[in-house]
Amino acid sequence: MDINYKKFKVIVREGYESICAVVAEIIAGQIATQPDSVLGLATGSTPLGVYKKLVGTDFSRVTCFNLDEYHPIERTNHQSYHYFMMQNLFNRVNINPDNINIPSGEAVDFAAECDAYEEKIAASGGIDLQLLGIGPCGHVGFNEPAAIFPKQTHYVALDSSTIEANSRFFESTDKVPKHAITMGVGTIFSARHILLMATGSHKADIVEKVVLGDIDPQVSGSILQLHPNVTLAMDAAAAVKLLQSL
Ligand code: GLP
Repeated sequence: MDINYKKFKVIVREGYESICAVVAEIIAGQIATQPDSVLGLATGSTPLGVYKKLVGTDFSRVTCFNLDEYHPIERTNHQSYHYFMMQNLFNRVNINPDNINIPSGEAVDFAAECDAYEEKIAASGGIDLQLLGIGPCGHVGFNEPAAIFPKQTHYVALDSSTIEANSRFFESTDKVPKHAITMGVGTIFSARHILLMATGSHKADIVEKVVLGDIDPQVSGSILQLHPNVTLAMDAAAAVKLLQSL
């Protein structure tokens, strides 16, 4: 099912595999029409199936910027987003390693790391297509509940709900890094096309809140209501509440 709701182009497919296929096609289509595309990429369980389907796509001229990384964390740590991206995508496609950009969890000078990341995105010409998942608190990247929408790439203390949700990947909750470096809401908003993805029944409430709730920095994904070009791709389980309310 494909519908337009306000500025959102909403795509719903029955199951996880079929929505991943649609999202992978959109990304592959972007690369086919513009081989030197700048992609913004996300981690998390949601896009895993998309990355699998992108193996075989020609990334030779593509530049990628990842949304975020824990801090502190070594890039070799199996829970780092750096490791995740290498394992699940970058080691499996023909991307030029110079075109892989992920905030460093090893940076000592966080402010300099954040500024350099922001400058590099601008120097690349900006992000053509930004893939996003959504966290349990409605965050995009690691833009945690806050009093204002953070504009640029920044160093952030993780919300307790994020630490709890992400503890499933660590030995225990206290092993989850307490901080991260993340693109800001402004950085994300500057992308020319946003591809927001949500799958599973545990995302149904937050999807409804992000799309229909107040535009509120406590739910950073809600800013996307103002973006002119958002595709919202969901499986039926994640879409159920939103579709009931439209
Ligand atoms: C993390 C990431 C987000 C991601 C979210 C959802 O917190 N920083 O970018 O969207 O997890 O993860 P999942 O896809 O596993 O539900």
